[in-house]
Amino acid sequence: MSTSRIDTFRAQCPGLSLSTDPGVLESHGQDWTRFRRPDPTAVAFPADNTQVSDLVRAAIATGMHLVPSGGRTGLSGGALAASGEIVVSMDRMRRILHEDPADRLLTVQAGVAIAEVQARARELGLYYPVSFAAEGSAQVGGTIATNAGGIRVLRHGMTRERVKGLKVIDGRGRLLDLNRGLVKNASGYDLRHLMIGSEGTLGIVVEATLRLTEAPPPSRVMLLALDSMPVMMTVLAKLRGSLRLSACEFFSVGALELVCRSFDLRYPLETSADGFLLVEFDVPAASEQHIEEQALAIFDEMLERGWILDGVLSTSEAQKRALWRYREAISEAAAPYTPYKNDLSVRVSKLPDFLQDLTTLAEARFAGCSLLWYGHVGDGNLHMNVLKPEGEETAAFERRCKEASEAIYRLVRAYGGSVSAEHGIGLLKRPFLGYSCSEEEIELMRGIKQVMDPHGILNPGKLL
Ligand code: MLT
Ligand code: ZN
Repeated sequence: MSTSRIDTFRAQCPGLSLSTDPGVLESHGQDWTRFRRPDPTAVAFPADNTQVSDLVRAAIATGMHLVPSGGRTGLSGGALAASGEIVVSMDRMRRILHEDPADRLLTVQAGVAIAEVQARARELGLYYPVSFAAEGSAQVGGTIATNAGGIRVLRHGMTRERVKGLKVIDGRGRLLDLNRGLVKNASGYDLRHLMIGSEGTLGIVVEATLRLTEAPPPSRVMLLALDSMPVMMTVLAKLRGSLRLSACEFFSVGALELVCRSFDLRYPLETSADGFLLVEFDVPAASEQHIEEQALAIFDEMLERGWILDGVLSTSEAQKRALWRYREAISEAAAPYTPYKNDLSVRVSKLPDFLQDLTTLAEARFAGCSLLWYGHVGDGNLHMNVLKPEGEETAAFERRCKEASEAIYRLVRAYGGSVSAEHGIGLLKRPFLGYSCSEEEIELMRGIKQVMDPHGILNPGKLL
């Protein structure tokens, strides 16, 4: 990148904070993926919507490419800037702009962290249900760009369900004010939903109006050691029949052991098993005793039928948090091993068969590697992580993964599933979009991209 181009860009954006500090380029040029080195030209820190709009116009004028960036916790390389782009960081746009308890709406700038939205919602006596392990760093704009899921999708749906208004700067530098917090709005194409999940390729999210919901009742967590993987859905159906579940998560013994080793935690149960189910369910104060008895009766029945081998029911908030840690820490525990991450989904009913077929395939392809299995069972979302064996070159491991990907995604397609349930396509899954979407769909996506970003400056090379 010539110095003059970035100087021209800078001159067109007076007052814009723009860093070329090597440390900032390194930290802000990437997300949590580690397969490519970041190499941006600069990192812009706009302070308001006008500065975002100005920098988009300056990018058009100078032919620079932009990579929108939030909390940088993404897992598909969607916020990776490896080709001299300008990263557009939302770190200076972190204000809660408006609270409207009557409408149960919270309007925030794109750089507000999810944990902050949750905390503010709690102070208002309400609840923001989008929740996942990286919520302390992940920003609202990034979660909208990827339509983030997490552990409460079972009851509350994905980020899409929460977004009632969206302000976006499109690829021409225009501010779009979409849906304005309305519950009902039947006036034409809903561009808000087009933006959600578009991974910064159609526009840069600058503000969002989020719908909060009622504070959840008290709850308990049960961790169950499963007799076998296929029994998982039977157990889920049994639990769902009697308890009001708000989460249902799964992890394999390999994932559990890695978490225990990495964070020096003790093994949570006395009996080992191949897989574990962690469920959270409502226990309203008025019916606490009744629900506890019911949960224990179901537990005994499942034990008698041989579906589960062991389990524990939380008796305090601290124990609940401790049990969740075994699930939520998996991603962090896997990170040092340059994991090859999969974020697959199929219909919930197809999950056991899919898991079985995928296990057979993965064990053949990844002999000698540790495989971690976990996911959001209640949503049909499976994360398979393959850890890079110590001593294997990253490039060689990446090649092996790419070859396996073809086979994995063929299986996903045969099941009518998706190559990305909640992490997004980004850079890593881009070659495989065709396994989830038809040629016609992709052609329409390209057309939409052309209309919204005619100069091709927004996150090029991602998703499409
Ligand atoms: C999770 O479910 O833990 C997240 O999606 C992160 C991951 O898959 O590693
Ligand atoms: Zn997940």
